[in-house]
Amino acid sequence: MSKPGGPALQAQDILKILVLVSGNGTNLQALIDAEKAGRFGRGRISLVISDREDAYALTRARNAGIRSLAETPGPKLPGPERREALSGRILAQARAEGAGLIILAGFLSILQGDILEAYRNRIINIHPSLLPKYGGKGMYGERVHKAVLAAGEKESGCTVHLVDEGTDTGPILLQRRVPVLEGDDSESLAVRIHNEEHQAIVEAAVMMIERLTH
Ligand code: GRF
Repeated sequence: MSKPGGPALQAQDILKILVLVSGNGTNLQALIDAEKAGRFGRGRISLVISDREDAYALTRARNAGIRSLAETPGPKLPGPERREALSGRILAQARAEGAGLIILAGFLSILQGDILEAYRNRIINIHPSLLPKYGGKGMYGERVHKAVLAAGEKESGCTVHLVDEGTDTGPILLQRRVPVLEGDDSESLAVRIHNEEHQAIVEAAVMMIERLTH
């Protein structure tokens, strides 16, 4: 992959990381723990934004002393307009914060518009399947695992990829695989994959921090 654009960091500079969340935030927690454990070098999670006010992920951020806020523009707006408004607000927050990396950690909204260009090669997403299989619009949550089981797949897993204009289509950074076991239902498969996600998102974050600070 080509090196991301943007100004080179000075030796003492910190790479500020913006994490986007929608739910429980166990992936966010894995990132917080990794930073605490000293794995992030000059990377610092400096802001967490949720597209839902009641996301427990916001509590996790607060507990870790990380600034956090909810951006929930016009919940009644039609999909494309809501996406546009949300993406614009997130871009404004990212710029104001001076964020150099954006991590989508269980973020259910789709980003579109200027943020994709402004943060080209600096936005990563985690998806609970082995992309390009079982990705795209409507493929989230238990729907992914149900589709995997219905197709009789022998393995599944998770993927961390760079975000581009498509849904789950950007260049893949890494994948972790799990077996699909006899008797699995979407819940048991989801739990197995979720555990791998926590490692995958940290590995990918470390990889991106390296790329962006060296
Ligand atoms: C994960 O399975 C992620 O892949 C998906 O949403 C889930 C988020 O989990 N997009 P959490 O909020 O990080 O616990």
